[in-house]
Amino acid sequence: MARILITSAIPYINGIKHLGNLVGSMLPADVYARFERQRGHEVLYICATDEHGTPAELAAREAGQDVADYCREQHEIQAQAGEAFGLSFDHFGRSSNPPNHRLTQHFAHVLEDNGLIEERIDRQIYSIDDERFLPDRYVEGTCPHCGYEKARGDQCDNCGRLLDPIDLKNPYSSISGSHNVEVRETKHLHLLQAKMQDRIAGWVESKTDWPQLTKSIAGKWLKEGLRDRSITRDLKWGVPVAYKGEPRPGFENKVFYVWFDAPIAYIAATEEWALANNENWERWWRTDKGAEDVKYVQVMGKDNVAFHTVSFPATLLGSEEPWKTVDTLKSLNWLTWYGGKFSTSEGRGIFMDQALEILPADYWRWTLMANAPESDDASFTLEHFAGVVNKDLADVLGNFVNRITRFCKARFGEEVPAEGTYGDNEKTLITELDRRIGAYTGYLEEMEFRKAFAELRSIWVSGNEYLQGAAPWTMIKEDKDKAAASVRCALNLIVLFAALSRPVIPFAADKMFAIFGLDPEEASHWPEGAAAALSRFKGGEAFTPSDVLFAKIEDEQVEAWRQKFGAE
Ligand code: MF3
Ligand code: ZN
Repeated sequence: MARILITSAIPYINGIKHLGNLVGSMLPADVYARFERQRGHEVLYICATDEHGTPAELAAREAGQDVADYCREQHEIQAQAGEAFGLSFDHFGRSSNPPNHRLTQHFAHVLEDNGLIEERIDRQIYSIDDERFLPDRYVEGTCPHCGYEKARGDQCDNCGRLLDPIDLKNPYSSISGSHNVEVRETKHLHLLQAKMQDRIAGWVESKTDWPQLTKSIAGKWLKEGLRDRSITRDLKWGVPVAYKGEPRPGFENKVFYVWFDAPIAYIAATEEWALANNENWERWWRTDKGAEDVKYVQVMGKDNVAFHTVSFPATLLGSEEPWKTVDTLKSLNWLTWYGGKFSTSEGRGIFMDQALEILPADYWRWTLMANAPESDDASFTLEHFAGVVNKDLADVLGNFVNRITRFCKARFGEEVPAEGTYGDNEKTLITELDRRIGAYTGYLEEMEFRKAFAELRSIWVSGNEYLQGAAPWTMIKEDKDKAAASVRCALNLIVLFAALSRPVIPFAADKMFAIFGLDPEEASHWPEGAAAALSRFKGGEAFTPSDVLFAKIEDEQVEAWRQKFGAE
């Protein structure tokens, strides 16, 4: 049994996440966590809300709420949406909670002791009308690279480049809209990443099994050369620049930069989990306390890779303390909405809460994961969604389950029939299933989700083809025992399919187990092989057919959703 620590990039607090965010980090991490748990490994899946920085403050301001209240409410909303989507976090913490304050201040302290932090004078945009500095998103203006007129201080949404606010042309305050701004000097702490170039490069070098996308992004940053970066901001909301309760002189009105404290929240949220469950968090994070045999897996969208391959490692390695660093880093491309961007402000796309008002979680989980944006960006359209649901879930898997349970009930009764023995048809099926289950398991291990779920779909199809060939509905007239054996085989297949499908469609899988009154925890143990799985029921086991597992999506529904969600 291995110990596997999994973290997915922690979602910003400002509003419920859309399907693109979901499939970019939390959902794939959940699928992988569920898979490894089913294999009997000790899994700890940690996530949290990312609550600091200008996005949080701006969103709270817009909602007319105090930022602490806003974050508390939004955290609850995101936690509930995650649960409703079946995201199996062992803990969903908050970057604003005390453990993260303590740890963030601890890291800054040891980094400074190690000569990696320095006070420097920065030039920042100051708003005379707002009487404050305008860090990051508090300032907008024209992008110096592409000319986009609404670029934010930290990043241009049009060309994607990271920016320094003072490079913006024609800057204005995003609080008041005032152009009455000037550049003023202010003191900040800088993390001396340039000093760590060789150290980080060596560390990245040692990660031989990172996927291509991850490697190439890390390589690009290393090639450009690591730059020192400021890790504090002139803001009130955040982790105070203090140590052991003592504010740092001259930094009383400053906090740590959100990107400095956010990844530390992976550790802090693990500490929250340990506190709540009377567990030990250090055996997951400290290599001197047992974490040396933990496999640590991170999942994130591609825009997060630099922070996880360079900045966060700089924090951990620079501390010279025995922290666990990432082993496997899975990064994903973008999911687009009809080829364009999901946009909260423009009401384009579907958000997690809206999705569940329309259809159950598994419909989305399957479609998103089977078409995960892995090798490239992927487009989400309602038409494609309906097609995938109707074909894969309703026609293939759902139909298989309903057809065989109903047929058995009508002709053999509500018990698995015991008559007859398996013959050539079943032997062929078992050979095919073993091959496919092996491939499927391998892809899940590698977190190659598209390939994995193409294989799972083929597994479901092979069940249908088997049933088509064995045709118990005609066979029953010639050879009732032979028909009984194929019905038994097909009923066993339902349980096998449920176990294999549970990482991705956990709710439907549990319904499938419930047909036979099976305990999902026990019955979902990862199948060893098809032969054993297909002889689980020998005959005489009671069952109750379920209602329709997956309903088809009608054209009228697609049309109504197109209107509602701004499809173009
Ligand atoms: N909130 C960030 C985003 O959604 C992710 C932060 S990940 C962490 O892009 F490592 F910083 F925690
Ligand atoms: Zn730009």
